[in-house]
Amino acid sequence: MKTILIMGASGGLGTELTKYFSAKEYNLALHYFENEPKSLPLNAVGFQADIRKEDDIKNLIADVAKTFGTIDIILNNAGISKSEISWKAEKDSWEDTMAINLTGPFLVTKHALPFMREQQFGRIIFMSSIVAQTGFVGASAYAASKAGLIGLTKSLAKELANKNITVNSIALGYFNAGMINDVPDDMQAQLIANIPVKKLGDPEQLAELMNYLISDKAAYLTGQTLNLNGGLYS
Ligand SMILES: NC(=O)c1ccc[n+]([C@@H]2O[C@H](COP(=O)([O-])OP(=O)(O)OC[C@H]3O[C@@H](n4cnc5c(N)ncnc54)[C@H](OP(=O)(O)O)[C@@H]3O)[C@@H](O)[C@H]2O)c1
Repeated sequence: MKTILIMGASGGLGTELTKYFSAKEYNLALHYFENEPKSLPLNAVGFQADIRKEDDIKNLIADVAKTFGTIDIILNNAGISKSEISWKAEKDSWEDTMAINLTGPFLVTKHALPFMREQQFGRIIFMSSIVAQTGFVGASAYAASKAGLIGLTKSLAKELANKNITVNSIALGYFNAGMINDVPDDMQAQLIANIPVKKLGDPEQLAELMNYLISDKAAYLTGQTLNLNGGLYS
């Protein structure tokens, strides 16, 4: 049975992804930072890590490999979003966003790669954002970190293609879980009005896309950023 490491499994989208993949034939390594999941599906084990710390990441990967034997698939879903206008943002805040949204996912991947290279199979998905493509007021650090993932995806895909390891990003529009709950209702209504399909994204449709990307059938699909955004950006 393959092992999926879901980073940020404790968050809004992570919880929905966990629900979806727990009904399938996988071992689930569920990462959390501050919010330990209260009840776990049968085939799941929880692992704590602050992805700003490389030692935490090394321990996380070692613990997952020890528990399940290996790591086959990583859903790099942990991330933060702070709203702050550029000329008021402190350097520490910028670096925090970069550490969690870009450097952390890189290091999680880096430390899992020896297992994937050895077994000549791997599926890596990064969670980018439409904000990387369009920009958003108050989201400079977030947009830069999510755009960084797109470049990271392309380079890793080229480095790993000969080992049957694919690397892709999903640039999400606005989804009906997680971070969207921090957006005030009137602003949410405005966002929805601008989405051509006129609704927020359904996390299950994200999970369905991931389910295809991590399958054997998607072995030829690598280095891409897939836009899942209801037509908001194309
Ligand atoms: N929701 C959307 O509409 C949307 C749109 C575009 C992109 N995305 C991307 O999708 C991903 C998930 O978003 P979400 O809406 O589910 O967000 P969320 O509910 O805020 O969840 C964020 C996750 O990141 C984890 N995390 C935060 N700081 C961390 C740290 N220092 N080290 C390790 N983990 C940390 C949290 O862990 P704890 O809760 O355990 O502390 C949580 O599991 C993010 O990468 C986000 O940028 C979301």
